[in-house]
Order: sequence, then C-alpha cells, then structure tokens
Amino acid sequence: MIDETEKALYQRTLEIKERAYAPYSNFLVGAVLRARDGTLFDGVNVENAAYPLGVCGEKTAYVTAVTQGYKPGDFDLIVINASPCGGCRQWHVEFKVDRVIFANNDGELVEYTADELLPDTFVL
Ligand code: THU
Repeated sequence: MIDETEKALYQRTLEIKERAYAPYSNFLVGAVLRARDGTLFDGVNVENAAYPLGVCGEKTAYVTAVTQGYKPGDFDLIVINASPCGGCRQWHVEFKVDRVIFANNDGELVEYTADELLPDTFVL
C-alpha cells in the first residue's frame, strides 16, 4: 500500500532527478532514501566519460546516508523514478531496506521488498 506521503516522495524524485549528471545517457534518475528516524537522503545518477565509472542514483543516496553515520537496517524505504538495475537491487539487499517503491516500465508506481527484487541473494 503506497500512501500519500510516499507518493509525495515519488514527486520529490522527479524534482531531484533534474540535478542528475547524465550527459551520456540523458537518463535522469532521482532516488529518495528514508531512514527510520525520518531523515531523507537524495541521490541522483552521476555519469563519467569512462562509462563504467558512473554511479546510479540509489547508490548515491546510500553512500550519502552512510557518510552521515547511517547503517544497514536503518532504512524503511527507498523511492526511485525508474526500475532499479540489477546492481542496485544488490544494494537494496545489502542495506536491508524494508520497501522499494518505483515507477515501473509502464509508469506505474509499484512496491516490493528488497528480497522480492533479488531472490536467493548472494551473501558473503
Ligand atoms: N541508473 C540509475 O541511476 N539507477 C538504476 O537503477 C538504473 C540505471 C542510471 C545509470 C546511468 O547513469 C543511467 O541510469 C542509464 O543507465
């Protein structure tokens, strides 16, 4: 169940994606990560002329939160304006986020757990 607050967070992803640095793909990604204490962390994708060096919007949000002292298990939600790539699904699992909401390829807002997005996950 996606509530009005979460729909507003989706609107926020659409605003922040305009700050993405994506001159190579022109595909702008905005992610809003919410900690259990209510703190929000924005993330956008940041590309590089050496293509594999680019970082996804979700990773930017997690890295920002970790820099502020947050840890796996501290997050209840991440909202993204696009379907997360396989690598980002691994990040959602790593950080034990409860719920992942994103606009799917049909533009529909959908919700999953991290495990649903990446079943039988690799663990070290
Ligand atoms: N991208 C993300 O930021 N997150 C994803 O989960 C999917 C892909 C970015 C990477 C690249 O800058 C652009 O979208 C096109 O692949």
